[in-house]
Amino acid sequence: MSDPALDGDWHPVALSAALPAGARLATRLLGREVVVWRGADGAVHAGEDRCPHRGTRLSVGEVKGDEIVCAYHGWRFDGAGRCTKVPAHPALDTASQARLCARMHHAEERYGLVWVCVGTPAKPVLPFPEHDDPHLRIVHCGPYDVDAAGPRIVENFLDMAHFGWVHGGILGDLDHTEVRDYQVDPFDDGQGGSGVIATQCRFWQPRTNSLAHGGSEVEYTYRVVRPLTAILTKLPEAQAGFREAISLHVQPLEEERSRVFIILAMTNDADSDEALRAFQDTIFGQDLPILENQRPKKLPLAPGAEQSMACDRLSLAYRRLLKESGMRWGVIAE
Ligand code: FES
Repeated sequence: MSDPALDGDWHPVALSAALPAGARLATRLLGREVVVWRGADGAVHAGEDRCPHRGTRLSVGEVKGDEIVCAYHGWRFDGAGRCTKVPAHPALDTASQARLCARMHHAEERYGLVWVCVGTPAKPVLPFPEHDDPHLRIVHCGPYDVDAAGPRIVENFLDMAHFGWVHGGILGDLDHTEVRDYQVDPFDDGQGGSGVIATQCRFWQPRTNSLAHGGSEVEYTYRVVRPLTAILTKLPEAQAGFREAISLHVQPLEEERSRVFIILAMTNDADSDEALRAFQDTIFGQDLPILENQRPKKLPLAPGAEQSMACDRLSLAYRRLLKESGMRWGVIAE
């Protein structure tokens, strides 16, 4: 399915660290089979996982130098998709190289992730300024595979009323379930992207992060910066000087199957990466059974399709944003 909102957007497909020089991987993006490889020069390339000769998946071949070599008859393709070698016809001319090319996608690395765009990029990879703040430490969590549509996952990330029910003893408890009034406004990311921002979101949380000892009032700000990306920041009152941003990025594998990458940017220098990941694994593990049991699996965008209350104002703004973008993937548009 072609999607006007997502084909021209950048999507994460791998942790950079999971793709060393000379490695290739097979993945899926928007229902397509995609091959990603890193050449000896360190550059990352992505394309349709299909050799133009007889259709063999290029991901079962190997990387040689900066090129990928098909496992069936040894055709070689460079990072631009040009065929540079056909072993059965060693004297390959330039015209043939251009004609025999593999179909490529745009690939970039940013924030420790590999990003792929299957169409023409409409804007840069999303802005995440906290990642580039030298005072904040970066930890990557996941990826987490989820049997759910991407928009349902983002909406859950924006949901404030589930803390006490799903994350009891950590992000909420059943004695503090009220969602106090908060503000939702349009958000301009300064790079041609428009989204929504929720501010003045305040909660009492028993253990808002792995450093917290006891409960605290915590102020959240949520930014939706792309259809399948949201970033939240937390300021716990009981931890003066503590800052944390958590970004959630969904790789849309299929309409109802997704992979989630989470990046922490925080002031915590005490905990090990493993301890921080374990904390995030626990939180995501609690969300997982909810996400996989929502019906319909696609997010319904029509006003009134699901019952909402004032606490759901941010999720309703997110649904309007998707509707206005013309998004069809993982949603019920009408
Ligand atoms: Fe790839 Fe023949 S199928 S080289």
